[in-house]
Amino acid sequence: MNFIGIIEKKRDKGKLTREEIRYFIDGYVRGDIPDYQVSALLMAFYLNGCDDEETFELTMAMAESGEMIDLKEIPGIKVDKHSTGGVGDKVTIIVAPIVASCGVPTAKMSGRGLGFTGGTIDKLESIPGFTTVLSEEEFISQVRDTGYALIGQSKDIAPADKLLYALRDVTGTVGCVPLIASSIMSKKIAAGSDAIVLEVTHGTGAFMKDDKSACELARTMIDIGRKSGLKMSAVITDMNEPLGHAVGNSLEIIEAVEALKGKMDPDVQEVIRVIVPEMLIAGGKAGTVDEALKMAEDAIASGRALETFRKMIKAQHGDPAVLDDYGLLPQAEIVRTVNADREGYLKIKDCAGVGECVKILGGGRMTKEQEIDLSVGLILKAKNGDRIKKGDPILEIYAKSESDADEAQKHYMNSVGIIDTKPETNTIIYSLDD
Ligand code: URA
Repeated sequence: MNFIGIIEKKRDKGKLTREEIRYFIDGYVRGDIPDYQVSALLMAFYLNGCDDEETFELTMAMAESGEMIDLKEIPGIKVDKHSTGGVGDKVTIIVAPIVASCGVPTAKMSGRGLGFTGGTIDKLESIPGFTTVLSEEEFISQVRDTGYALIGQSKDIAPADKLLYALRDVTGTVGCVPLIASSIMSKKIAAGSDAIVLEVTHGTGAFMKDDKSACELARTMIDIGRKSGLKMSAVITDMNEPLGHAVGNSLEIIEAVEALKGKMDPDVQEVIRVIVPEMLIAGGKAGTVDEALKMAEDAIASGRALETFRKMIKAQHGDPAVLDDYGLLPQAEIVRTVNADREGYLKIKDCAGVGECVKILGGGRMTKEQEIDLSVGLILKAKNGDRIKKGDPILEIYAKSESDADEAQKHYMNSVGIIDTKPETNTIIYSLDD
C-alpha cells in the first residue's frame, strides 16, 4: 500500500477502506509515516469529511492502537460518562459518587484541563495526598471493593489519538466532527465500560459553538459507540456561562462537596438531574427517570453519596478530612471582592473568557506539562441575568498576588457586562437517546 495514494484519494473526496485506515494508523504509531504526510491527510479529512463507516474504522483503529482495558472482572454494567468540556464543569465529581452509591460500578478515566477548560484530575489533585495514578489491577480491585475509582488517562490507552491530537493541535485540524468524535470515542472504547453517557456542551465556553454542531457531534459519537456494541446516550448542555458559581480547582471541589451534602446551584442541579438518571438507567439500576431521581435524592439525603466519595478519596491516598474542613485544601494568598460599578443585569458575554481568568491566575494550562496553582480561581457572586445594584459584589477573585488579581479582574470585566435589559438565560436542551 502507498500512503501518498491514500492522501490523494481523500483529497479527491474518495472513501478510504478499512485496510487503508489501518495502514495509516498502524504505520503512524510505528513511526513509519512522517508527520508531514499525516498532516496532509488530516487536512483532507478536515476539508472533505468522512462518512460513518470511515469514522467508525478510524475510531476502532485508534482504540486498538494500544491497551484495551478489560473490566469483565467487575460484576455489573459499567457505565462511563464523558463531557466535551467547559468552564466550572464539576459534574463528574458530583455524579460519580451518587451513581456508585446507587450500585453502578464506576471505573472512571478523566483528563486534565487545557486552555480555558478545567479538568477533573486537576480538581481532585487539590485534595492533599490524592493520587490518580493506579495500576490497572489496583484500579479494577478498587472498583470491585468500593464501587468507585477515578484515574488519569493511561499513556497506553489509544496512543494513536495522543499522536494525532498533538498534530491536529498545530495543523488547524482540531475542529472537525469525525476527528473529534473518533478521538473521544477511541479512548472511551479502550477504557472498557459497557455504557457511555455523553454530555456534549455548546456555547461560548465549549468546543462546539452552537447546538446544531453539538447535536451532530453527539449523534456521530452515539453511532460509533453503538456500532462497537456499547449502550449509548447523550445530553446536550449549555455552556454559555460557567456551571455553578466556582471556577478553579480547589474552589470547585468545595462546590462539588456541598452538592453531595445537598446544596446545589439550580443550573448544577439541572444537569445532575439529567445525567444521573441516564447513568442509573444505563446501569440497569433504575427503570424510569422518576425512580432514578428518587434513588439519587436518597443517596444524597442519607449521606451515602458523600461516604462513597470519602471512601474513594481514602483508597486513593487523599485526606478525607477535607470533606469536613475546607481549610485543608490549598488556600489562595489573596481574596478580592469586585463590586458592580452600575445597576443593571449581569450578562456573561464570553464564557471562555471567564475560564481564561483562571489561566491568568495560574490555575490553568497553556501546555500539557505546565504546573498549576490549585488554590486560585473565581467565585461568581452573580450569574447571567441576575439583577444587581451599584456596589453589589459580583465576583471574588482568589489569587496569589495583587497583580494577578488585577489582570484577572480586567479580563473578567471584558468577558461580562452589566446591561439594562435582562439577557436570555439558557438551560439544558435535550437528551439524545432514542
Ligand atoms: N477532546 C478529545 O479528546 N479529542 C478531541 O479531538 C477534542 C476534544
